[in-house]
Amino acid sequence: MTMSDQTRRKRTVRSFVRRAGRMTASQQRALESLWPEYGVEADGSLLDLSTLFGREADCVFEIGFGNGDTLVQSASENPEKNYIGIEVHEPGIGHCLIMTREHTVTNLRVMAGDAMEILRDQIAETSLARINLYFPDPWPKKRHQKRRIVQVPFLELAASRLQPGGTLHIATDWENYAEHIDETLSETMLFEEDERCEHSGEQALDRFTTKFERRGLKRGHRIWDWRFRRA
Ligand SMILES: C[S@@+](CC[C@H](N)C(=O)[O-])C[C@H]1O[C@@H](n2cnc3c(N)ncnc32)[C@H](O)[C@@H]1O
Repeated sequence: MTMSDQTRRKRTVRSFVRRAGRMTASQQRALESLWPEYGVEADGSLLDLSTLFGREADCVFEIGFGNGDTLVQSASENPEKNYIGIEVHEPGIGHCLIMTREHTVTNLRVMAGDAMEILRDQIAETSLARINLYFPDPWPKKRHQKRRIVQVPFLELAASRLQPGGTLHIATDWENYAEHIDETLSETMLFEEDERCEHSGEQALDRFTTKFERRGLKRGHRIWDWRFRRA
C-alpha cells in the first residue's frame, strides 16, 4: 500500500454516527421549504457573521442541538444575540426548522454537518461569544471513548473561535464523561472554570433543560454543568 492509499484509508474519528432516523412528512417538508430561510450550507466557506444576520451582535454557537427545542427557546428569549445551531441528525434539523418558524425566531441559523469541520473551516477566529455543548454523545464503552467530542483538539479549536473571555458551556449526565471533561480541561491552559455544579436538574447553569437531560434525569442520572471562560 502506498502512502497516499494509507492516507485515504485513514478515517476521521467523528463524534457521531449518522442514523437514518424516522423523518415525519412535516420534517421533510420543513427541510425543503424552510431551509432557504434558516439554513446555511456547510460548504467549507468562511462565514461573515454580520452579513449572515444582517447586524453585529454576540454570536452563540450550539453543537448537537438534537431536536432544537432548547436552542429555539434560547434564541427566542435572547433576541439581542445571534444563534447558530449545528446538528447532523436530519429529523432533528427538520423539527428545529419547524419550531424556528412557529416561534417567529429571526436570530437563528441552522447548519447540517460536523461541528468540528464547521468550526475549523467556516467560523473565523475570535468571532464567537459562546459555544454551547449540551449533553454530547457520551460514548460510554471504553473502545468508543475516542469518539467523545471533548478532546484537546476540540478545546484548542473552540478556544481559537471564541473571543477572549468568551464562554464554553458544557453539560453532561454521564459521570464517566464528566470525569473525562474535568481531566481534559485541566490538561490545557486554554480555559478557566468560572462555574461547575453537580445537580439533579434543579440547578442548571444559565440554560434551559434539554430533551436528553430529561431522559437522563428519568433514568436517575445526575447532571454536571460547567461554564468555562477562554483564558
Ligand atoms: C445526546 S444528543 C443531545 C441533543 C441535545 N443537545 C439535548 O441535550 O437534548 C447529542 C447530539 O449531538 C449530535 N452530534 C454529535 N456530534 C456532532 C458533531 N460533531 N456535529 C454536530 N452534531 C453532533 C448528535 O447527532 C446528537 O443529536
